[in-house]
Amino acid sequence: MTALPKQQQIAALFKQAVVIPVLTIEKVEHAVPLAKALVAGGVRTLEVTLRTDAAIAAAKAIIVEVPEAIVGIGTIVNAGDLARAAELGARFGISPGLTPELLKAAAASDLPFAPGIATASELMQALAAGFETLKFFPAEQAGGIKALRALAGPFPHVRFCPTGGIGEGNAATWLSEPNVLCVGGSWLCPVADIRNGNWAGITAMCNSAMKSLKPA
Ligand code: 3PG
Repeated sequence: MTALPKQQQIAALFKQAVVIPVLTIEKVEHAVPLAKALVAGGVRTLEVTLRTDAAIAAAKAIIVEVPEAIVGIGTIVNAGDLARAAELGARFGISPGLTPELLKAAAASDLPFAPGIATASELMQALAAGFETLKFFPAEQAGGIKALRALAGPFPHVRFCPTGGIGEGNAATWLSEPNVLCVGGSWLCPVADIRNGNWAGITAMCNSAMKSLKPA
């Protein structure tokens, strides 16, 4: 871990990631082959969401067995989730939203963390707690690029990882926004491909995404 302050660490992680796949892992045995498939396609920074019973064990397995992967924990909704993410050795945490309790815990934790916002008022709560690298969620549904541009007016220093409704067709457009560090989404890991063990297909999609996508 670097000596950079947490906010700079997460901004740097996001910037070098370009794309962060949002992973919903149903079975622990999928975790390592999936992470290897992503890394083989040039996608090293991964968000393992706490949406399944298998999530924590899956994240642990990836951290231990795929050291090239930079594992973050997503769908952190409370202080307990944040503590679990830090405990298991995740490199960052990310949330679809924020609560006063979660912001307080994240401000006190060593884990680099990005709260989620969809409005100016939520963004101001995040800023007040010291967070300026944020998830914009649900990006397309909450107003899309027009909404993000509007937020850049009053909040020019805030940087984002938009997720929600982003895919092959619009990722490049989002990435060309100056306040976007990276984009996230589930499109690189379709549930059917994971269930069928289509690891080669996932690697191919990642390769093509990483070739075509560049940060602003
Ligand atoms: C997230 O948590 O970031 C979203 O579920 C990702 O949204 P997507 O499935 O539309 O990519």
